[in-house]
Amino acid sequence: MILKQYKGTKAVAEAIIESVFIDGTEQGKLNIAVSGGSTPRLLFELLAEERYQQAVKWANVQLFWVDERCVPPTDADSNYLMTYESLLKHVALKEEQIHRIKGEASAQEEAERYTRLVEAKLNKEDGLPVFDVIILGLGDDGHTSSIFPSEMELLEAKIPYLPARNPYSGQQRIALTGQTILKAKRLLFHSVGAGKKEVLQEIISQDPKSETYPSAYFFRHRSDVELYTDQDLL
Ligand code: 6PG
Repeated sequence: MILKQYKGTKAVAEAIIESVFIDGTEQGKLNIAVSGGSTPRLLFELLAEERYQQAVKWANVQLFWVDERCVPPTDADSNYLMTYESLLKHVALKEEQIHRIKGEASAQEEAERYTRLVEAKLNKEDGLPVFDVIILGLGDDGHTSSIFPSEMELLEAKIPYLPARNPYSGQQRIALTGQTILKAKRLLFHSVGAGKKEVLQEIISQDPKSETYPSAYFFRHRSDVELYTDQDLL
C-alpha cells in the first residue's frame, strides 16, 4: 500500500487532481472510473475550478463510473447527478466522453449494457477490461464500489458490472466487481475525515475485523494500492 497522507481534505483532493487528472492527461488518454457518495464532491468541485480548466487536458478524458444507484439521473441519490452538479456542468467534456450508468434502467439489463460498453472501450488483460485509473471510496462498514459485506462474492466475479444491493436500505445498485477493479493500472482509495480513521486503521493493520470488509480485499491483493487520506495512520 502506498500511503499518501495530506493535511486536510482539500490538500488530498488537490494531490489526486495533480497526479491523476493533470499528470494522467498529460501522458495521453485517461480512461478513469470514479465513485459516488460524498467524498468525491470536493474533488470534483476543485477540479471544476478555473485553475484546472487549463491544466487538465480534458480532451484526453473518458469518464466512467465505478457504481450507480438504481435511480433516475435526476434523483438526489444519483452518483451521476452529484458528478454533473459538481463537475460536468463546469468542464469541457463532450457527451461522447461521458459514459453514464443508466440508473433508471433495469439493473440486470444496464449491468450487461455497461459491461459491453466498457469491454468495447478499454483494452483487456486476461479477458478483463483495464481502466487507467479507478478511484474508490470507503464506507464505514468497509464497503467499496457497491460491494457490501453482504455480497462478498462480487469480489471474485469476472463479469465487470453486476447488480448489487445496499443491505441497509435495500436500494438496488450496479457495481464494478472485484476482478476488474484489481486489473486497473492505478487503483486509488480516496477516503477522508475522522469518521474513516478507524476502518482505515483496521484495514492497513490487517486487523481480523477487516476480513469482512470488501475494501480490504484490494489492499490484500495489490501491494501498490494508493491510499489518499487526511487521516494520521500507522
Ligand atoms: C456510492 C459509492 C460508495 C462510496 C462509499 C463512501 O455509490 O455510495 O460508490 O462506495 O464510495 O459509500 O461514501 P462517502 O464518500 O459518502 O463516505
